[in-house]
Parts: sequence; C-alpha cells; structure tokens
Amino acid sequence: MNAGIIGIGKYVPEKVVTNHDLEKIMDTTDEWIRTRTGIEERRIAPDHMDTSDLAYEAAKVAIENASIHPEEIDLILVATVTPDQPFPSVGCMLQEKLGAKNAAAMDISAACAGFMYGMITAKQFIENNAYKHILIVGVEKLSKIMNWEDRNTAVLFGDGAGAAVMGPVSKDRGILSFELGSDGSGGKHLYQEKDIIQMNGREVFKFAVRQMGESSIAVLDKAGLTKEDVDFLIPHQANIRIMESARQRLELPEEKMSKTVHKYGNTSAASIPISIVDEVEAGKINDDDVIVMVGFGGGLTWGAIVMKWGK
Ligand code: ACO
Repeated sequence: MNAGIIGIGKYVPEKVVTNHDLEKIMDTTDEWIRTRTGIEERRIAPDHMDTSDLAYEAAKVAIENASIHPEEIDLILVATVTPDQPFPSVGCMLQEKLGAKNAAAMDISAACAGFMYGMITAKQFIENNAYKHILIVGVEKLSKIMNWEDRNTAVLFGDGAGAAVMGPVSKDRGILSFELGSDGSGGKHLYQEKDIIQMNGREVFKFAVRQMGESSIAVLDKAGLTKEDVDFLIPHQANIRIMESARQRLELPEEKMSKTVHKYGNTSAASIPISIVDEVEAGKINDDDVIVMVGFGGGLTWGAIVMKWGK
C-alpha cells in the first residue's frame, strides 16, 4: 500500500509587509533583499493569532479538500519551531479546535525540514496499516521570534501554514522514495536564543546549496528514476539563489520549479506545503506528475521526497 496526499490546504495572514515597509524601520533596501534572496513581501500574523490558530485555518481547508470528517483523522503531526508554548503541543491544541476526537497528536521539531519529517513519519503508519488518515501541518509564526532590529534575519522570514491529509493512494502513486538526515554539529549556525532567531547566513547558505542538490539526486536514485523523469521541483523557499542551485542540479527549466518565496518569504516548515497548494491551484501539478520535494533547516536537518501526485 502506498501513502500519498489526499487533501491540501493553506493559510497565510492578511497583513502584507513589503521590502519597502522594512526600508522604513531598518538599514536595508528593496534592491538588496530582492537580489540576495528573491523576497519581495511576506505575511505577518496579528497578535491575536498564534501558531495553533494559523494551523487550524490551513487544516480545516485540507480536511475539507480530502472529503473526510475531522473524526476520521487518526493522527495529527504538526511541524513547527514556533509552538504557542513548549507544551501542550500545537498538535493537541489543533486536535481540540478541529474536534478530531479520535486522533493522537504530537509536534515535530525539525525546522524547515519539518514537513518532510512529518510526511515520512505518516507514511510509516499508513503503509503498515496502523492508521488511515493522518493530518500533517507545517506552520510557523516566526514573527514572534524575530529581532526587527537585525537586518541579517528580519528580512528573510514570514508567517503561514500549509496542511496535507495523507492516506492510502492507488498503486504507483504517493511517496516513491525519501531521504532524511541531520547534522547536529551545524546546530550553532541557526538557532533560537533568548526568544530570538540567530543565524550565520553564509554557513547555512553553503550547507543548503550542497544538501539540496545531493538529496534531490539521492532520492531520485532510490526511486529508480533520473532527472529526466522529474515533472516538478518544490524546494524549501528560503532564498531564490539556493533554490536555483537545486533546479540547476536537476537540469530543470525555470517553469518546473515552484517559486513562492517572493510572496511569503521563508515560512520554514510551512513553505513546502504552501507551495504545493499554490502550484496545484495554478495547474502546475497534475495527476501522475513526478514531484521532488526537498528541504533543509536548523538542526541542521534535511529531507527529500519523490512523490507521484494523485490519489
Ligand atoms: N540589507 C542590506 N544589507 C544587508 C542585509 C540587509 N537586509 N543583510 C545583510 N546585509 C549586508 C551584510 O551586513 C554584509 O555587509 P558587509 O559585507 O559590510 O559585512 C553584506 O550585506 C553581505 O552579506 P552576506 O552575508 O555575504 O550576504 P549573502 O549574499 O550571503 O546573503 C543571506 C545573506 C541572504 C542571509 C544568505 O546568506 C542566505 O540566504 N543564507 C541562508 C539563510 C537561510 O536560508 N536561513 C534559513 C534556513 S531555514 C530554517 O531552518 C529557518
């Protein structure tokens, strides 16, 4: 039995903060941010919405899109590094908000690779027949751990949520291969201290370029596929230059890579599922397309998946 995605949803806050808005509060320029990162604007959640509220909005849409009832969900996995509080988990908060009374729930902490970790965890439960419907949400309210006086980090991130319901799908569709990894020795390059994100951008950049390319090739090998088989690439939306390096490694034309970083900035665990939703809605991902998803993040962590789209 193959595990695949049977429903998707996203939520981004209404408030748009443009690069020009940031120019007014810190020593930066629209030109610098656009050329170095590809970001033009990001969404910032209001004070009254915390991470679990963003997750709830995306999850509702995904559950409806999967044509199931919240009571049919067996497990909720929330990938986030910005939970409402250390515990209870965002997963448990979401379980209550959704009325998913038959679901177990937990959070996954793997930073920007969190959605990849969540999908692969879900795959195990589905393929061994333990659970049928698993809700995975990648969600961040990064604005609450951002230092608005640090131009090195504040220009990069945004808030948002993306969700998927996974379940059994037809033969040949769903997850074909995966790779997950970690390197704790690089944890010092990207972490939270005293409620604020700290980052060594150059070190993270070098790691990301290497890992995105290597992992994309590795998962294709594991699936017995080649670059020519890839219909669409969904890289973690951190920086257009990092994303471009992965695209070039797979020798794909521009139109075969998801690009949403200009609209939302880096939404960490939410970036891949938000991109999935936007690309499906744009008609760029269709049944039986071979999709490569690849992410990296603080930890350091990384993860890549090859999936054949469709139920
Ligand atoms: N506006 C203007 N100038 C800036 C800004 C800014 N917002 N930020 C930095 N600069 C300056 C720096 O101070 C530096 O000036 P200096 O040479 O006088 O010291 C200059 O620009 C160049 O800085 P670099 O760090 O060399 O710039 P680079 O081209 O490497 O881009 C960036 C920096 C965008 C942070 C890049 O390194 C990057 O994207 N790294 C990866 C970051 C990332 O993806 N993090 C998230 C990981 S996912 C997760 O888990 C959350």
